[in-house]
Amino acid sequence: MTLRDKIKLTEGKNCWETREYPDDGVPKIFMCDGPHGLRKQDFTNQLFSSESVKATCFPTAVTTASSFDVNLLEEIGDAIAKEAIDQKSQMVLGPGVNIKRNPLCGRNFEYFSEDPYLAGKLAAGLIKGIQKNNIGACIKHFACNNQEYKRMASDSLLDERTLREIYLTAFEIAIKESKPKAVMSSYNKINGDYSSENKKLLTDILRDEWGFEGFVMSDWSAINDRVKSIQAGCDLLMPGGTGYGEKEVINAVKRGELSKNDIRRSAARIAKVARDLEVKFTPVESDGIEDYIHSHDVARKAAEQSAVLLKNDGILPLKANVKIALLGEMADNMRYQGSGSSRINPMHLVNPVDVLDGCKDIEAADVCVIFAGLPDAYEAESYDRADMKMPQSHIDLINETAAKNPNTVVVLFAGSPVEMPWIDNVKAVLYMGLPGEAGGEAVKNLLYGYVNPCGKLAETWTYNYSDVPSAESFGSRDAVYSEGIFVGYRYYSSKNVAVRFPFGYGLSYTTFEYDKPVVSGDKVTVKVKNTGSVSGYETVMMFVEPPESGEIERPVRELKGFTKIYLKPGETKTAEFTLTDRSFAIWQDGWVIPKGTYNIEVGGKKAFIFKQGDEFTPIKYEIPKPSMRLAVKGEYTLNDSVMDLMHESKIVEAFVKKREKEMAEKYGNTTSPEYMLMHESVLSAPMRAMIMAGQVKEKVANALLECANGKMTEAFFKYLEL
Ligand code: BGC
Repeated sequence: MTLRDKIKLTEGKNCWETREYPDDGVPKIFMCDGPHGLRKQDFTNQLFSSESVKATCFPTAVTTASSFDVNLLEEIGDAIAKEAIDQKSQMVLGPGVNIKRNPLCGRNFEYFSEDPYLAGKLAAGLIKGIQKNNIGACIKHFACNNQEYKRMASDSLLDERTLREIYLTAFEIAIKESKPKAVMSSYNKINGDYSSENKKLLTDILRDEWGFEGFVMSDWSAINDRVKSIQAGCDLLMPGGTGYGEKEVINAVKRGELSKNDIRRSAARIAKVARDLEVKFTPVESDGIEDYIHSHDVARKAAEQSAVLLKNDGILPLKANVKIALLGEMADNMRYQGSGSSRINPMHLVNPVDVLDGCKDIEAADVCVIFAGLPDAYEAESYDRADMKMPQSHIDLINETAAKNPNTVVVLFAGSPVEMPWIDNVKAVLYMGLPGEAGGEAVKNLLYGYVNPCGKLAETWTYNYSDVPSAESFGSRDAVYSEGIFVGYRYYSSKNVAVRFPFGYGLSYTTFEYDKPVVSGDKVTVKVKNTGSVSGYETVMMFVEPPESGEIERPVRELKGFTKIYLKPGETKTAEFTLTDRSFAIWQDGWVIPKGTYNIEVGGKKAFIFKQGDEFTPIKYEIPKPSMRLAVKGEYTLNDSVMDLMHESKIVEAFVKKREKEMAEKYGNTTSPEYMLMHESVLSAPMRAMIMAGQVKEKVANALLECANGKMTEAFFKYLEL
């Protein structure tokens, strides 16, 4: 391959494919979103067309995280890969392991947890399941993409210890344990540098420290300066097809500013993965139907194993002969997934009304089951939630029903925590999360006790949004992570903040009793007994509680192990965990163990272990200051959005209005998630991203920019490319 070919290989061919060079033995990679099913677009260049090829819609990560079950995630990955094979796709764009820093992040439903250990382990399970079929997985969004607001321009400002202990750990665990073929860099900046231009992240940490051997691709249109991104180790620009930055790359090579080796290296990484994944697509002997039936079963099981019983005063499980009323719009149209790039066109959707027999009559029913939660438009990729509230109409329905019939149960669908001012009025709450296409069947099996609920919350539910540590700082372009390592339960338990439901919370139809844990060397064992009258799974979690470490503040507890066991009534089993250095370590320009006695807490009971620890001088890390300017007329660049510029020029304003009109016509309602996503990806995104996405020609973007800067003659020249 010539150097030109290699440069071309570092840009995708279109929205979903890499380029192929058959004469040189470089096949293409066809990729599909991810993460909770396969979203294969019909058209290679259509970014978010509403309809993709039908596929099994598994529960989203917010839900599967509550399973605390690595094997289940592996099963889901395996099933997704089988569908990828059926669709002749070589790579799945997932999982997403960003940490839930704040419950309002619009994309939290696609992520696992506020805890990096849990997120990393579950992601590793999913990746193993996908890749054992020789389909590649792409872990994303690397890193610190914890808000949707101005996601292509925001700067996540955080100290090094917080970066390492909270925001990189999930990636580190998953990458080391499951070796994904690709990593997707995120849109945002981290401490002033775009992730896609961040050598420390993409090369020093990812490759040199963690041993990553696949290739790095940009998130869609996330590249700012293509030369810098290649130098930093971002191998592939996606989507491709516009030649964005190609001239600059060629010129930089000519001027000797970009080494040919950097290009060869990136091209070689892409080529290697493409060859590794070259299919071998074994012709499917049947019509593939069995696979989809199996996948649907996996989706149902995942929803069942992940649902969290939040409240039950004994009304559940329902007796087979009680007369139930099915209330709320979500009985007919449950919310089962989120909007944006992860949206699946479900193969076989089963709503609660499809499988439950019930009336609509509150007075005649023994038990009223209300299906409520967060509608589609409340949380989606590309924008954050405004607050933690459910729609007032849902709250009114719950309160009014409960006032008439005290036997009221709420089945809750939401991709993130909600405030629950109504909870005292109802007898039970079953939280389904976003349970995927088989959610209806799972609800039935759980309500009637055919399956015993065993999900545990993978994130804390506060009483109010104001209890969240990042509540004040969240939602601005310069995202200052001032709460540091005190994210989620690390904050609430260390600072004694009362919460509605803690991390790890979830009820069962049976009860379990724990013995004291026993520590022997690096092994921790604990006996758990089912003391109730029905069989069930119990998630056993091991937390490590550090000693006081002088000047170094540490969370009072951190999850360092979990496992799930199945127990029949009266049965006892032993759960086992392994402690590693990282179970005790903190980041001090390297991992060190502070000396002292650590408690090992399992099921509320404790053992202890003494660690001699390492000698080190405590480092006081600082959060870097924001570096971005406020744009002013005359200084706008392609990093500003047309929305930012429209008030400077009637021409830019007319351009924006025209595009808004076209989008409204295409996506309907201007408050629909699809419209909002396109608006954010096109008009609110930096203009460079519009060029990359093929939404505007480079000359038009440059001309608009000059208009906004008040340089009309320049604008003409730019438009005419003179
Ligand atoms: C999302 C990615 C996704 C990609 C392709 C981006 O907007 O952030 O998660 O994989 O689009 O659809």
